Amino acid sequence: MRPPATELSLEACLDRHRLSGGRSSLAVVATVDSTNRLAREVARAYLADDCLPPQLVLLAREQTAGRGRRGRSWHSPAGQGIYTSLLLSMPDSEALAALPLRVPLALCEVLDDLGVDCAIKWPNDLVVGGRKLGGVLIEALAGPRAVIVGYGINGSQEEAELPQPDATSLRLLTGTPRDLSSLAVDLAEAVVERLTVEEPVRELVRAYAGRSVHRPGDRLSCRQGDEVEVGRFVGFDESGRLRLRTDEGERVFSSAEMLSARGAAETAGNRDAPGE
Ligand code: BTN
Repeated sequence: MRPPATELSLEACLDRHRLSGGRSSLAVVATVDSTNRLAREVARAYLADDCLPPQLVLLAREQTAGRGRRGRSWHSPAGQGIYTSLLLSMPDSEALAALPLRVPLALCEVLDDLGVDCAIKWPNDLVVGGRKLGGVLIEALAGPRAVIVGYGINGSQEEAELPQPDATSLRLLTGTPRDLSSLAVDLAEAVVERLTVEEPVRELVRAYAGRSVHRPGDRLSCRQGDEVEVGRFVGFDESGRLRLRTDEGERVFSSAEMLSARGAAETAGNRDAPGE
């Protein structure tokens, strides 16, 4: 039986991709443990033969073990959300470093067209009204040669179907079920497109800062490895690293994890955050 038109469907994704003349190869699977894990397997097979993996978009209708950052899981019920991994080759480490800025920006720009006023909670959570709509998990393989950009967006869940109270979905935000198949393909194309645009990092940082939920003076806790620092948000530096004023002076975080944020941003998630 065909799923409802609003649910993510394999055929509808492939149709949309064909019609839009998408530049990347697209593979859509009904169910997989994790699209990031699958993308890694594909990449490894190429790298083992000393070949650069092809640019590939992987979509799943369902993930049985969707992964979030820092060992969290990503709740991925069949047809109800967008679960995507892009397999990309990065020309250099600068391009790799800009990914955490470019990817959430591209996603937000597409979501703008749905009337969803999406902000970014550093490093790359998509947040609306303090509740998490989506998240990004970027994993590098073999240095900058192959990178997996995974993202999940909560789609058609009702309040009671969301895994935790600080999550939200497109359906709750827009009041109507969305055609998730078209949106999934459009989002992937927007991300791929944004990666090809030459844009000075300073412009990227400016755009990113304009979307940030954090305001100067907000009290934040940042984790890097086992270390947790508490301080006041200062802003972003010229490469998009987060500046935190602590009692010991200023610290910059390039891949730290926000533990909590008081002020404009409260923590928000999809699910199964280990106790923090
Ligand atoms: C986070 O906010 O913690 C990041 C969530 C990333 C979830 C996506 S869903 C598609 C891709 N495959 C995964 O296993 N994870 C990412």
